[in-house]
Amino acid sequence: MSYNNILSTTQDGITTITINRPSKLNALNSETIQELHEAFNAANEDYDTKVIIIIGSGEKAFVAGADISEFADFDVAEGGRLAAEGQAKLFDFVANLRTPVIAAVNGFALGGGLELAMAAHFRVASDNAKMGLPEVSLGVIPGYGGTQRLPQLVGKGRAMELIMTAGMIDANQALQYGLVNHVTSLEELVPLVEKIAGKIKRNSPVAIGAAIAAINAGFEDGVNGFETEISEFGNCFGTEDFVEGTQAFLNKRKPVFEGK
Ligand code: COA
Repeated sequence: MSYNNILSTTQDGITTITINRPSKLNALNSETIQELHEAFNAANEDYDTKVIIIIGSGEKAFVAGADISEFADFDVAEGGRLAAEGQAKLFDFVANLRTPVIAAVNGFALGGGLELAMAAHFRVASDNAKMGLPEVSLGVIPGYGGTQRLPQLVGKGRAMELIMTAGMIDANQALQYGLVNHVTSLEELVPLVEKIAGKIKRNSPVAIGAAIAAINAGFEDGVNGFETEISEFGNCFGTEDFVEGTQAFLNKRKPVFEGK
């Protein structure tokens, strides 16, 4: 499929989705959000894709936020709709995919950019990355899940300070906060993320999907994560991957998972 604002390529079980508006620091306009929805959905349904990597094009930005020029004249109803549609199409959508999504944060990740990185299942940053939720400097608040996911990842007090000051933290501070899992040079970012993806790829895709669902359940209001874990655990016993994984172990060979 061809897109105007993103690129999507699949190689060796990894689909890399690149946000490709470098002249606007990869800001998320509505067309880009729609295209990202389609690309993530296609990758999630693609049998050959075991891991999805999301990255920005160029060397300066992952994503510098939602496209401010698009919502500057919105009213109350349009503002609410912008957040609701964006969360449904992209941010909650990505967070709840059963295919693992890694954000390779290769520069500015601000506003909707950091919210997209936080919707991914985990993050790896290059040492030039800068992260923040500067929305209150524009007279709004984070609307793509940032007020929820940032405190979950870094703790309430740190999230309060970062959001209220509209400040930015660098990659090493993000590492110290637990917002990103690893920091490396820009040149080493993609190789490192692909190396981690390679370790994920060896394991059962259906079990990984079940683990994502169980982990996410613990962060959902009114859902008992332990009950979700029991249910997802039980379901694994009905999969071909479970038979393959246990038989391979008992027969002292490497498993070949079909993801079924
Ligand atoms: N929405 C729309 N356009 C954006 C954008 C955004 N969130 N972020 C950057 N751009 C555009 C700029 O308008 C500029 O376009 P132009 O060349 O047509 O004028 C281009 O990207 C380059 O940005 P510029 O500001 O010139 O780069 P810089 O290196 O001086 O500053 C930032 C980089 C990231 C500090 C700055 O672009 C910025 O503060 N962006 C907005 C961040 C933000 O508030 N995000 C949250 C949105 S809710």
